[in-house]
Amino acid sequence: MGRIENLQDTTPQVFWHASAVTAEERLHQLRQQPATIWLTGLSGAGKSTLAYALERRLCADGRLVYVLDGDNLRHHLNSDLGFSSRDRRENIRRSAEVARLLNDAGLIVICAFISPLREDRAMAQAIIGQANFIETYVSTPCAVCEERDPKGLYQKARAGLIPEFTGISAPYEVPLAPALVLDTELLTPDQACARLLQHLAPRLR
Ligand code: ADX
Repeated sequence: MGRIENLQDTTPQVFWHASAVTAEERLHQLRQQPATIWLTGLSGAGKSTLAYALERRLCADGRLVYVLDGDNLRHHLNSDLGFSSRDRRENIRRSAEVARLLNDAGLIVICAFISPLREDRAMAQAIIGQANFIETYVSTPCAVCEERDPKGLYQKARAGLIPEFTGISAPYEVPLAPALVLDTELLTPDQACARLLQHLAPRLR
């Protein structure tokens, strides 16, 4: 039977039942140490493209991997949230909690969120845990993202039709010490994927 603990400080009437399956057992079963690659950058920077390309590569290599994508999660789990700084923070908090659970289950998680504020990314790191959190700045410049404008959102934002649009009328805070920086203007998706795979290699058996 698992261990039962009371987390007095936060939830006096709720108890934590610990799993009898250890992280070590999952590691042997899955041949991988879990991690969360956290892709941050502007809309149109190439986060989702990279996330799904890397997922494809890892899956082909027999790895258990899953993408959490901002746009996709906003269709379901986070469909009640908008783009105020408060809602973005909640979006990041919930998504980071999901990443944490998936890491706990042994999966490699690839998160693609603008996550524009340092404070919110620090919160994500605190939730996921420093050892598992790989902050990756997709640094494609705003002018390039605006030129690409794959969803036509920059044009709408410029026309004043989308308030608080990141990079236009809402801030993006550049990461100060990311593990990786990938500029998709200079790197092909294959090259960017290769950099990420290199970074993950020590976790794969
Ligand atoms: S975050 O800021 O809360 O991290 P998230 O990554 O979930 O954002 O969602 C970003 C996506 O929402 C963008 O790629 C874009 O398609 C869409 N979007 C809609 N409105 C906005 C806005 N005001 N600012 C940025 N992205 C927006």
